Amino acid sequence: MSNINKIIRKRRSVYPLQYLDKEIPKEIIRELLENANHAPTHRLTEPWRFKVFTGDRKRQLGEFLAKKYKETNSEFNDSKYEKIKSNTTKAGAILAIILHRDLKERVPEWEEVASVAIAVQNIWIALEQYNLGGYWSSPALSTYLGEHIALEENESCLGFFYIGYCEGSDRIVQKKPISEKVEWLY
Ligand SMILES: Cc1cc2nc3c(=O)[nH]c(=O)nc-3n(C[C@H](O)[C@H](O)[C@H](O)COP(=O)(O)O)c2cc1C
Repeated sequence: MSNINKIIRKRRSVYPLQYLDKEIPKEIIRELLENANHAPTHRLTEPWRFKVFTGDRKRQLGEFLAKKYKETNSEFNDSKYEKIKSNTTKAGAILAIILHRDLKERVPEWEEVASVAIAVQNIWIALEQYNLGGYWSSPALSTYLGEHIALEENESCLGFFYIGYCEGSDRIVQKKPISEKVEWLY
């Protein structure tokens, strides 16, 4: 199998519980972001933006999200509250995934969401070479990020990409066969 096929098929979600307690060098994060920047984009709107949380800013993000969880959930669950906080500190870095909507709305929003998702995938498939794992978290709490950091009016948070060093992952989500999802038309 070609290398690129192997890389794509080995990609998986690796969750903070499995991360090693190790910072990620900024140069590596920059390389990953450079990959994101090569995503395709209709009318060259380049709608992907990232806010990179490292060091103590991870903890602060966790405190904010946990507080927001407490404020906005009547059925408050203590272990979830603690998990929100521990996930952020366990991560080597957290990228807030931001959609920067074209001000003139020259393309439908879904096309820009698609471009942002492709940018995230470019990061995701490049992680393994560095022994990094990652996962996309999309909690409802993402919508409050603008209360914690400055976002422009045309920007919204599509979730967080957690990244951390890991010793591989044995969690394999078997996908249903592609043959069930494809119709060939002759
Ligand atoms: C847009 C998007 C949002 C996701 N949000 C969450 C999430 O909020 N919580 C979670 O546990 N996993 C989330 N995931 C990860 C999926 O659970 C994961 O991709 C799925 O279980 C398949 O596993 P795999 O990535 O290892 O193939 C998200 C994935 C995507 C693409």
